Amino acid sequence: MAREFTSVGVVGLGTMGAGIVEVFARNGIDVVAVEISAAAVERGRATLTGSTDRAVAKGKLAEADRDALLARVDWQVGLDALHSVDLVIEAVPEQLDLKQRIFAELDRVCKPEAILATNTSSLSVTEISVATTRPNQVIGIHFFNPAPVMKLVEVVRTVVTSADVVADVEALCERLGKVDVTISDRAGFIANALLFGYLNHAVSMLESRYATREDIDAAMKLGCGLPMGPLALMDLIGLDTAYEILDTMYRRGGRDRRHAPVPLIKQMVTAGLLGRKSGRGFYTYERPGSPVVVPDEHTPVTTGGALADGTRAIAKVGIVGSGTMATGIIEVFAKAGYEVISVTRGAEKSAKVCEAVKTSLNKGVVRGKLSEEDRDAALGRVTWSATLDHLADVDLVVEAVVEELSVKKALFASLDEICKPGVVLATTTSSLPVIDVAMATQRPADVIGLHFFNPAPIMPLVEIVQTIRTSAETSATARAVCAALGKTGVVCGDRSGFIVNALLFPYLNDAVKMLEASYSTADDIDYAMKLGCGYPMGPFELLDVVGLDVSLAIQRELYLELREPGFAPAPLLEHLVTAGYLGRKSGRGFRDHTKR
Ligand SMILES: NC(=O)c1ccc[n+]([C@@H]2O[C@H](COP(=O)([O-])OP(=O)(O)OC[C@H]3O[C@@H](n4cnc5c(N)ncnc54)[C@H](O)[C@@H]3O)[C@@H](O)[C@H]2O)c1
Repeated sequence: MAREFTSVGVVGLGTMGAGIVEVFARNGIDVVAVEISAAAVERGRATLTGSTDRAVAKGKLAEADRDALLARVDWQVGLDALHSVDLVIEAVPEQLDLKQRIFAELDRVCKPEAILATNTSSLSVTEISVATTRPNQVIGIHFFNPAPVMKLVEVVRTVVTSADVVADVEALCERLGKVDVTISDRAGFIANALLFGYLNHAVSMLESRYATREDIDAAMKLGCGLPMGPLALMDLIGLDTAYEILDTMYRRGGRDRRHAPVPLIKQMVTAGLLGRKSGRGFYTYERPGSPVVVPDEHTPVTTGGALADGTRAIAKVGIVGSGTMATGIIEVFAKAGYEVISVTRGAEKSAKVCEAVKTSLNKGVVRGKLSEEDRDAALGRVTWSATLDHLADVDLVVEAVVEELSVKKALFASLDEICKPGVVLATTTSSLPVIDVAMATQRPADVIGLHFFNPAPIMPLVEIVQTIRTSAETSATARAVCAALGKTGVVCGDRSGFIVNALLFPYLNDAVKMLEASYSTADDIDYAMKLGCGYPMGPFELLDVVGLDVSLAIQRELYLELREPGFAPAPLLEHLVTAGYLGRKSGRGFRDHTKR
């Protein structure tokens, strides 16, 4: 029979501890909440009251229930108060010696049958357990931030944790309304092992001034549908905690350079910029602990619709290509009021693209998102041509032809001869160096990347890729165009994968390596990222949608350009592609799609 947990102890009431107290108290369990000082207890209590008051204000919690919840918590200084609880969850800072000291003390104070759990994100639960005389009753219960919201709990069993303790904790998670994945003791478990390389990489992009904090975060939110960008997430996690986690993962996880904390993180921790909890991290917050971002000296100045100096006026746009991207981009520009000249390689192709644009616009009308007049006006703005010469007087060209450098270079050389001076020449390439295309012309300062996402009419993001030769005017013009299209343009340098793919694909590749190492199953890894980090899809679901061949090609490019050993494509990914398991499009990838 499963063990009854009537009272639990929580040690450390910081970012995680205060949330964990709320999870238990909400579910009718008495909590002894312990901190190091009266002031720290007060901070923890204030966090809980703030959170429950917000829940009441939002109508998610009745006032009486809030009062009952708060009454279940006994606030204490010092571990001695934990003598009669059934379970303790430790959530003190991520330092092994500190946690070992606390576990030795808990072992002395707590009743012999009590289970001792750690909320560590990256330290070895086994090493923590051996500081006690009851390592078989020590387990990892890893909640996600914010604990009351995130559904996932990683239950970490060591080689000595007894099976009944694991079963009891799993039953407890269910009672708390959480979904648990039970795994063995490895640095970063599932979610953090996949998350922290990505977070560290995002910080390195900021540190090297590859893109701004706003653009990095917007790219991942709008390009991948993530609930928050990586830098905002670092602020939520706490930079001190993130530093410790990265440092431990680097040392425990095979010294993967991608986990070596980017120097900027340590500098920020030393400077007291810890994230939300200290009121300032990558962003500045209204006050310590507040989720409300306020402007600071790094906040971009908005021009209020006025064009920046040197921005060129764009009225007429040429779009070259006849594939999915070109079709979507024609629709986007035509709907936004631009005069569009579509150039394909023949009348037949033009007719097909025209049909596809019409079908898509009609869908908008059927769904009530577009009036018939607006549809007709948009179509009326498009001229269909099979000759590049018709682009002689456009103000902007967007190239969306096949992803082959020789083809794109030849096209840009022709555009250079045909187009009038001062035209912005843009490529939608997602993986080729923009500078190669730019150097095929005599006017590299006018060439830029405009990386739209598929489907272009729906996806709100455009990566604006500046080469080392792109002029400020070209860049300002590209930004103004994106704004006029109603898209969020994020500016970045001309590196493989730009922002989104460079941050996304290594994470997907890591998930494949985790599966390959038999650490967990595809289902549990997908759950972990969806329920622990709020991702719209798990990595294996996404890989099957994107296509394993496409993913492998992108990962190879990243590896070849950056020479980062950790970016080497997972052998399992290569094998699946060789076997023709390409994802949904071939009926089978990581999952079999023929039976659904
Ligand atoms: N921040 C996250 O997003 C996150 C998510 C999951 C797990 N974790 C893990 O949770 C643990 C806590 O992290 P955090 O971010 O909440 O840290 P935090 O710095 O916000 O809070 C730690 C708290 O522990 C208290 N403390 C320190 N020594 C103590 C002692 N001897 N006795 C009692 N309390 C003590 C501190 O006063 C502080 O309030 C870490 O192991 C971390 O890896 C963090």
